[in-house]
Amino acid sequence: MATGSFHHCSSSFVLLLFLLQLLSGYGELQSNYYAESCPNAEEIIKQEVAKLYDEHGNTAISWIRNLFHDCMVQSCDASLLLESKHGNGIVSEQASSRSFGMRNFKYVTKIKEALERECPATVSCADIVALSARDSIVLLGGPRIEMRSGRRDGRESYAAVVEEFIPNHNDSMVLVLSRFESIGIDVEGTVALLGAHSVGRVHCVNLYDRLYPTVDPTLDLDYAEYLKGRCPMPDPDPKKVRYARNDKETPMVLDNMYYKHLLTHMGLLLVDQQLASYPTTAPFVEKMASDNGYFQDQFARALLTLSENNPLTGHDGEIRKDCRYINTD
Ligand code: HEM
Ligand SMILES: *[C@@H]1O[C@H](CO)[C@@H](O)[C@H](O)[C@H]1NC(C)=O
Repeated sequence: MATGSFHHCSSSFVLLLFLLQLLSGYGELQSNYYAESCPNAEEIIKQEVAKLYDEHGNTAISWIRNLFHDCMVQSCDASLLLESKHGNGIVSEQASSRSFGMRNFKYVTKIKEALERECPATVSCADIVALSARDSIVLLGGPRIEMRSGRRDGRESYAAVVEEFIPNHNDSMVLVLSRFESIGIDVEGTVALLGAHSVGRVHCVNLYDRLYPTVDPTLDLDYAEYLKGRCPMPDPDPKKVRYARNDKETPMVLDNMYYKHLLTHMGLLLVDQQLASYPTTAPFVEKMASDNGYFQDQFARALLTLSENNPLTGHDGEIRKDCRYINTD
C-alpha cells in the first residue's frame, strides 16, 4: 500500500513537472521557435529579404519601418499587414495618416509565399515582420540582433488607435518619450531607434512647415535652401511625388550619420531635430554621433524590446495563411 501511494505520488509529481514545463514554454517567444515545425523558416526569410533587397533596395528600409508601426501599436501581431477588402470589416492601419509613405507591402506576400511552399500555415506573419526587419538591418550595415520567434497573428486591426501610439512628425519630445516609455523603451533607446531615420525618405508634406513661409530657425540655412529645391512651393508640378532623402551622404546605410546631421542642424523632421536640443536626449545624440558602435548597441537593445512588445503566443491569435487577411475557416 505504502509503495503504491509512493508511486502514485511520484508519478503525479512527474506529471506536475511536465505540465509546468509545458506551461513555461507556452506563452513565450523562443530562439529558433520553428526549429522542429519548419527548420528552414528563418533561413528562407533571410534569403527572400536578400533577394528583394537586390531587386528593390528600399524594401529593406520598409521592413524596418513595418516593425515599428506593427509592434508599437498594441502588439507585434502583424495587424499592420491586414487590408480592407469589400465586406471583411477590416479598416487597414495602412490607411492611417501616420502610415503615410509606407511602401512595398506587396513584397511581404512574396516572403509569405516562399514560407507557405515550404511549411504551409506554420510561420506567422508577425514573425515575418520581426525577422525581416532583423535581416534588413544587417543588409543595411546595422547590428546583428538575436531575435526570438513564436509570435502569432492577430485577428484585429487597430486603425482607430494608431495615432495614440505612433507620434506625429512634429510632436513634442515629451510626448514622443512617453510613447516609447509606455512600451518599456528608455530615453537612450528612443534616441537610438530614431536613428532608423538614417535611411529612407521623407515626403515634402512633412517638411513644408519647416520651410515656408519662414525657415525653421533650428534648420541649417544651406540645407534649408537645398530642401526648398527638393520641395518647391508653390509646386510647379503638383502631380510629381516629391520627397527628400533622410541622409544625403549614406542614404542606404543604417549608421550614426543621422546624429552627425542633427548636430549640424540638418535633421529632417522636427522630431529628429528636437533630439539634439532636448535636455535629456541631447547627450545621447552627441555620444551616438561620435561612436557608431555605441549607437549600434543601443539600437539593437531598443529594437529587441520593440520587437517583443506584447506578442500573441501559445493559443492566442492564429497563423494567417495570407498576411493580408485573417483566416476565414
Ligand atoms: C517619434 C517617432 C517617429 C516619428 C514621428 C516618425 C515619423 C516618420 C515620418 C513622418 C516618416 C516619413 C514618411 C514619408 O514622408 O514618406 C518616417 C519614415 C521612416 N521611419 Fe519613422 N518615425 C518615428 C520613429 C521611427 C522608428 C522608431 C523607426 C524604426 C525603428 C522608424 C523608421 C522609419 C523608416 C525606415 C522610414 C523611411 C521609410 C521609407 O523611406 O520608406 N521611424 N518616419
Ligand atoms: C503638425 O503637422 C500637422 C500636419 O502634418 C498639422 O496639422 C499640425 O497642426 C501640426 N502640429 C503642430 C503642433 O504644429
